[in-house]
Amino acid sequence: MEMLRDADIDPSALAGKRVAILGYGNQGRAQSLNLKDSGIDVVVGLRGGSGSTMEAEAAGLETALIEDAVASADVVMMLAPDEIHATLYSEIEPHLRDGAALGFSHGLSVRFGLVKPRADLDVFMLAPKGPGTALRSLYTEGKGMIALWAVEQDATGQAGAIALAYGQAIGCARAGLIASSFAEEAEADLFNEQAVVWGGVPELLIAGFETLVAGGISPEVAYLECVGELHLIAELIEARGIAGMKEVISNTAELGALLGGRRIIDDGVRRRMAEVLAEVRAGRFAEELRSEEESGYQRLEKARAEARSAAIEKTYRRLRGRD
Ligand SMILES: NC(=O)c1ccc[n+]([C@@H]2O[C@H](COP(=O)([O-])OP(=O)(O)OC[C@H]3O[C@@H](n4cnc5c(N)ncnc54)[C@H](OP(=O)(O)O)[C@@H]3O)[C@@H](O)[C@H]2O)c1
Repeated sequence: MEMLRDADIDPSALAGKRVAILGYGNQGRAQSLNLKDSGIDVVVGLRGGSGSTMEAEAAGLETALIEDAVASADVVMMLAPDEIHATLYSEIEPHLRDGAALGFSHGLSVRFGLVKPRADLDVFMLAPKGPGTALRSLYTEGKGMIALWAVEQDATGQAGAIALAYGQAIGCARAGLIASSFAEEAEADLFNEQAVVWGGVPELLIAGFETLVAGGISPEVAYLECVGELHLIAELIEARGIAGMKEVISNTAELGALLGGRRIIDDGVRRRMAEVLAEVRAGRFAEELRSEEESGYQRLEKARAEARSAAIEKTYRRLRGRD
């Protein structure tokens, strides 16, 4: 694995170039502010009547309608939600300059064919491995967030240099840029979302909480045990790695983890994880995401309402004084 940092990167690929950021959400806000503070000429492209226009301008950014921003730019970054990339790309394609660079922060829409970029375009990915809020706060603290970078299409011979200079300008090369591909990033990211951190972990916490409550433990104690300690292990793993984390917990916790961990996460879990990965690679999730958007996000809205009224959520609110 090659990890590139500031000293390895030539910023000149972005010198004198104008960058259009499409979308001013989680990533769009952070990336456009970091670019501006790095001295890059940046314009935020927003749809007519967008509520984000005032916010972006108050932050000192230039804004324009999406098509005007695209027509004025050498580098166009797609930072609207993934499920609208297909529609958004078809709207902007006629306005993209010949030989412009088209950038993404997630490989999904190119890997699964939602976007098929024109042959004259450079197509690159710069995917920070974390939320935009942290990307921005790390940058302002003089630090950076690790990112994956890739080139899908190198029409001008400059795509790689632009990706790296972009990663440097948003501060990620302070932490490190790792070479990847659209396919690798998209498949690993979608797998993790379903099977590990965002899908697996919350369900494990809920199952543990419900098991303790069904066994007669009070919801408050069940919550503090099963959910309340999560940030402690996350911080320890971040600081010391998994083996290092095990060395600083008590022998009681370490033996419990040894005996219980592999009993819960057994071969059945690994088999289902492999199924999830195969489904992701076959494009099943990309199809689900497309139909979810078409339905007006019905499944997501229903799941959000159910999660808000679940017993574990009521316990959280009581414990944290949020009622
Ligand atoms: N969330 C993260 O931290 C994160 C981390 C790594 C990579 N990524 C990737 O970064 C990209 C952006 O994700 P995000 O979470 O930052 O997106 P987001 O916050 O959901 O994006 C919201 C922005 O997109 C605009 N938008 C929404 N629908 C639009 C439409 N139909 N036409 C034009 N603009 C539209 C919104 O416009 P208005 O302001 O007008 O509402 C808003 O400015 C994705 O590819 C994602 O996978 C995200």
